[in-house]
Amino acid sequence: MTLNSANINVMIKACRKASRVLIRDFGEIEKLQVSIKGPGDYVTASDKKVEKILIEELQKARPNYSILSEEIGHISNDESFKWIIDPIDGTSNFLHGIPHFAISVGLEHNKEIICGIVYDPIKDEMFIAEKGKGSFMNNQRMRVSARSKLKDCIIFSGGPRYGSKNKDLIFDEYKKFSLKVNIAIRKLGSASLDMAYVAAGRCDGFWQRELKYWDVAAGVILIKEAGGFVCDFNGEDKYIENKTILATNSKINKEMIEVLK
Ligand code: IPD
Ligand code: CA
Ligand code: CA
Repeated sequence: MTLNSANINVMIKACRKASRVLIRDFGEIEKLQVSIKGPGDYVTASDKKVEKILIEELQKARPNYSILSEEIGHISNDESFKWIIDPIDGTSNFLHGIPHFAISVGLEHNKEIICGIVYDPIKDEMFIAEKGKGSFMNNQRMRVSARSKLKDCIIFSGGPRYGSKNKDLIFDEYKKFSLKVNIAIRKLGSASLDMAYVAAGRCDGFWQRELKYWDVAAGVILIKEAGGFVCDFNGEDKYIENKTILATNSKINKEMIEVLK
């Protein structure tokens, strides 16, 4: 089974087109990586180029929809439909020639995410979900993992951001979590892929502070449609307002909230 609603097709087309530039630029970055100047400006330019292609494609197909995108900000139009875009999620990986980053696009309708796509162009893995229709990776149905005990799990986390005011708290939380549960915790550097991997059952849970809406918009629907659960650290639905997100296969949700307390 595949997802092929009109909006999903628009998103797939935009991501595929933008990914061609991203793959080409990544090839250049790998070369620049070993130069003295490094690829710094090149990365900013890639972010903007990828964003421009995504916005052009999405606007061409849906001229009335509003947009919230990381680099350009808010483009106001019909506010009942809004594209939420992160052109490169995992910029630090991209900058260092590490092939683990993604394009993330969510579609909000009346403040609820109804479609999401996270596309890893290097591995050619496209994670897609639509409300009520399930989650898919390259057309294969995804389900969250079935592990029910934290001691058997792999958990992802991330942060702190460079210059974060909460860095002590975030490092303490990480340490506390590791000491309490004594299991594998990974920081792979792309929140959208972290969430896509929870949806695909590759990892069992993910927690992070200070993420932005564009980091998680697509990931949230991927996880929900794959049978997982997304909340803030208190178990409530306010992960954007409270800037804490916990995403799990739902079975370990309660245990993770306890450990994070
Ligand atoms: C970042 C990634 C990273 C997370 C950071 C985000 P960016 O997004 O998602 O995994 O730890 O908090 O800012 O800057 O690469 O788009
Ligand atoms: Ca991001
Ligand atoms: Ca980004």
